[in-house]
Amino acid sequence: MRVVIVYESLYGNTHLVAEKVAEGVNTRAEAVVVPVDGATPEVLAGADLLVVGGPTHLHGLSTSASRRMAVEDAEKRDRALDPDAESEGLRAWLDALEPGGGRRSAAFDTRLDGPAAFTGRASRGIARRLRHHGFELAVDPESFLVDKENHLIPGEGDRAREWAARLV
Ligand SMILES: Cc1cc2nc3c(=O)[nH]c(=O)nc-3n(C[C@H](O)[C@H](O)[C@H](O)COP(=O)(O)O)c2cc1C
Repeated sequence: MRVVIVYESLYGNTHLVAEKVAEGVNTRAEAVVVPVDGATPEVLAGADLLVVGGPTHLHGLSTSASRRMAVEDAEKRDRALDPDAESEGLRAWLDALEPGGGRRSAAFDTRLDGPAAFTGRASRGIARRLRHHGFELAVDPESFLVDKENHLIPGEGDRAREWAARLV
């Protein structure tokens, strides 16, 4: 079984979670982790399961404006950006996604700790778009949480690994 994990990440949290998801998958199947820019139709072609994750921005999926805000904020705070931070966002990538033909998929996000009703969650929008493109959702959308200092909360990496192991 081949699992392709596609992530968008500005500050590295979603990238880190994507790597943890790959570790969980690798206990039972083959995992390929790619940033949005690397997720070409050729890479997706042989995937039995597509896992897509992104950061929550302004209660949902990032937009070009929220991505710009994130980059500007990083510059102001002298904060490092993820290597592929300035590539295309998930929103445009999902819009152009080729039909899934009933293939299995899953969606996750990273977001601030707190009730989803207040924070929003990008994984809902990712899941909706995957379904719209003919993918079947294997599990409910999942969130992995960061603290106010924008660090992944201890234990969330392990939770991502376990979530992925259950998925495959
Ligand atoms: C412009 C911007 C808007 C954000 N909006 C929200 C939000 O509405 N809800 C939330 O829970 N987190 C929000 N966050 C926090 C991010 O979801 C969180 O830092 C996430 O882990 C970032 O992922 P990344 O490190 O992969 O870029 C926002 C962050 C940025 C930069």
